[in-house]
Amino acid sequence: MQIEEMFLKRRSTREFSEKQIDDETLESICKLAVLAPSAVNLQPYNLFAVNGKKAAEFTPNVQIDGANGWASGAKAYIVIEERAPHSVITRDGRTISNAPFIANDVGILSAFIVLAAESMGLGSCIIGIRNEKGIAKFLDLPENSLFPLVIALGYPANDCRAKERRRRDFNKTYKLIK
Ligand SMILES: Cc1cc2nc3c(=O)[nH]c(=O)nc-3n(C[C@H](O)[C@H](O)[C@H](O)COP(=O)(O)O)c2cc1C
Repeated sequence: MQIEEMFLKRRSTREFSEKQIDDETLESICKLAVLAPSAVNLQPYNLFAVNGKKAAEFTPNVQIDGANGWASGAKAYIVIEERAPHSVITRDGRTISNAPFIANDVGILSAFIVLAAESMGLGSCIIGIRNEKGIAKFLDLPENSLFPLVIALGYPANDCRAKERRRRDFNKTYKLIK
């Protein structure tokens, strides 16, 4: 699929067919996604692919107070774990930047995940509403582990993706200066 077509076609997908996802496909998506740029190339995350029956067991972790009911149909998840404190950029012993880039890094990684998934015919939805303590327990990791985003995946159900793109008026978002 051409990259432009992929940008135009991708939508958050919240209705999935019954088709299961191969473990190899999930690994391929993650292998492409870690090519995402990150501050100081720190790649401050680990990725967990949760598939098959385990995905169904995982689902309550993204359904707090009735949110994300649609996720009951998701066939797999990619869970992003925050791995490192934010990058401190130094030059000649001086701190040049102490900015917390982790949110940027995770956001870009997520974009790479959804586009890699799209290129393999999979639908996806980034999920911010999540129970981090529940995820830590599920993954058998320390209770204070951080999981900034989860991506739900599945093959899209027929015609489930809205045709309309709802976006802020481009002319309000964009200005050319020359
Ligand atoms: C950081 C982030 C968190 C999100 N969290 C959720 C979520 O918890 N549940 C959900 O259904 N969609 C979630 N979304 C998806 C957005 O609602 C969706 O991307 C937006 O409405 C634009 O629609 P589109 O992705 O189809 O273009 C999230 C998206 C982002 C980037």
